[in-house]
Amino acid sequence: MSLLDEVKKRKTFAIISHPDAGKTTLTEKLLLYGNLIRSAGTVKGKKSGKFATSDWMEIEKQRGISVTSSVMNFPYNGYQVNILDTPGHEDFSEDTYRTLTAVDSVVMIIDATKGIEAQTLKLFKVCRMRGIPIFTFINKLDREGKEPLELLEEIEEVLDIETYPMNWPVGMGKRFLGIFDRHGKQFVKYNGNEEESYIPYEDLDKQEDLVSQSAYVAAEEELALLDEAGNEFSLDAVLAGKQTPVFFGSALAPFGVQTFFDTFISMAPAPTPRKTTVDVVQPDNPEFSGFVFKIQANMNPAHRDRVAFLRVCSGKFERGMSVKLARTDKVIKLSQSQQIVASTRDTVDEAYAGDIIGIYDPNAYQIGDTLVEGKSKYEYDELPQFPPEVFKKVAAKNVMKAKQFKKGVEQLVQEGAIQLFRDKRTESYILGAVGELQYEVFQYRMKNEYNVEVVFETIGDRIPRWLKPDQKVDETLFDERNMLVRDREGNFLVLFKNEFSLNWFKDKNTDIELIDLFEVN
Ligand code: G4P
Repeated sequence: MSLLDEVKKRKTFAIISHPDAGKTTLTEKLLLYGNLIRSAGTVKGKKSGKFATSDWMEIEKQRGISVTSSVMNFPYNGYQVNILDTPGHEDFSEDTYRTLTAVDSVVMIIDATKGIEAQTLKLFKVCRMRGIPIFTFINKLDREGKEPLELLEEIEEVLDIETYPMNWPVGMGKRFLGIFDRHGKQFVKYNGNEEESYIPYEDLDKQEDLVSQSAYVAAEEELALLDEAGNEFSLDAVLAGKQTPVFFGSALAPFGVQTFFDTFISMAPAPTPRKTTVDVVQPDNPEFSGFVFKIQANMNPAHRDRVAFLRVCSGKFERGMSVKLARTDKVIKLSQSQQIVASTRDTVDEAYAGDIIGIYDPNAYQIGDTLVEGKSKYEYDELPQFPPEVFKKVAAKNVMKAKQFKKGVEQLVQEGAIQLFRDKRTESYILGAVGELQYEVFQYRMKNEYNVEVVFETIGDRIPRWLKPDQKVDETLFDERNMLVRDREGNFLVLFKNEFSLNWFKDKNTDIELIDLFEVN
């Protein structure tokens, strides 16, 4: 098979949703279709003590949530499917955002009873900004929810994206009868716990007991309206991230899931060319290349190892090959590589653009690193940084443990889930994270992996602003309210207490130039 054929087979995506919208349930159904698991309930069942394939860390088990991202892959309908898991909890880490740089599309699940919920809005917006194609699955149609038209309007307004319903629901909750499959020109009948059945449009007239129901008549009218006045379907617009195909269904039943998956897989983009510091690299360029989007230490406490997650962007990965780390120009032999499905690891012998592999990290990699085969010299575009919002001072409870503390902090910070700053005056360690959960994970891992108990001192939510480099500033301008700190690269920034302090400072010090490094707010 040619390299291009291999690339075209790859469908690499993430499923994003608000907690409880049904991500685990839907993922499980996809894994069933892909024969990755044999029975329902293998993945689901947080309350019963079974855990999702993608949840492996002890803390995830305790909280019943998935904190780190993992990868699931399987062949389906002639395609090679790669699903990247993302934390569904409201406390996102940068990890979640970075995972989005490694996928070619996303599936957005929305709970029909709730619509778009505030906490996940940010994540959806990041997808919009990056132009990632979004496929929407509106879940829980077997429950009374919001009106379908209202849900579409909400998506269009909040995300500023066109919607195109691929199917149209007839009734919901107890009166849920099924969906019009606009794409397949058939009616898919909901039979409760029984399997769904399919009726071609031309045979619908014969189904008197169905077509006489008021919910059916109402849905048919809505559909006629959509056909006439709704958006036109455009695959180009979908692939440009400007239109989202919307599917209604129930992940639990399951209902409409297989049709959704088949259509999604056939429409979702295969790996596309990626920008580098020099040029654009085609996915079927014979030279292997990829970038590290995540580093995970001690995934298996028995091994105390580090794994770098690499998204392959071009060429063919072969185990044992030598590649160049673009940042340092050092050549590294990739002898240990694995595909990671939860805590079990299969050795990977070859991989192509779109695939995600875990490579053994002898402490050589950093997040964002580019690996290239051969003589070419380029790096993939820098991964975006996201603004930490919660800041805390951190110290070892026992001062005798200073050495382990430093080592632990440095390694966990290198993984990128949390950012490190040092107070200019006191040199104390200050951590910044996107959400509160990262502190729990940090504390837990420091204790379990580095045997250090840490104590936090909250300094609250802060607004970080960097000082323009080489600018002389009077240090006495800063105090606990407006803290002057250094980031890991040695750049100075100020952690402002709130919007008011920031504006007050700006008014008083018009000669000081402040930089907001983050585009996403
Ligand atoms: P998450 O991963 O996005 O957090 O959601 P998850 O799949 O765990 O689903 C959250 C809850 O919603 C679960 O119920 C699940 O059974 C239910 N659910 C998912 N899809 C559907 C659907 O299509 N219809 C209905 N009615 N419910 C759905 P739970 O009671 O919280 O958990 P459990 O006791 O079933 O484990």
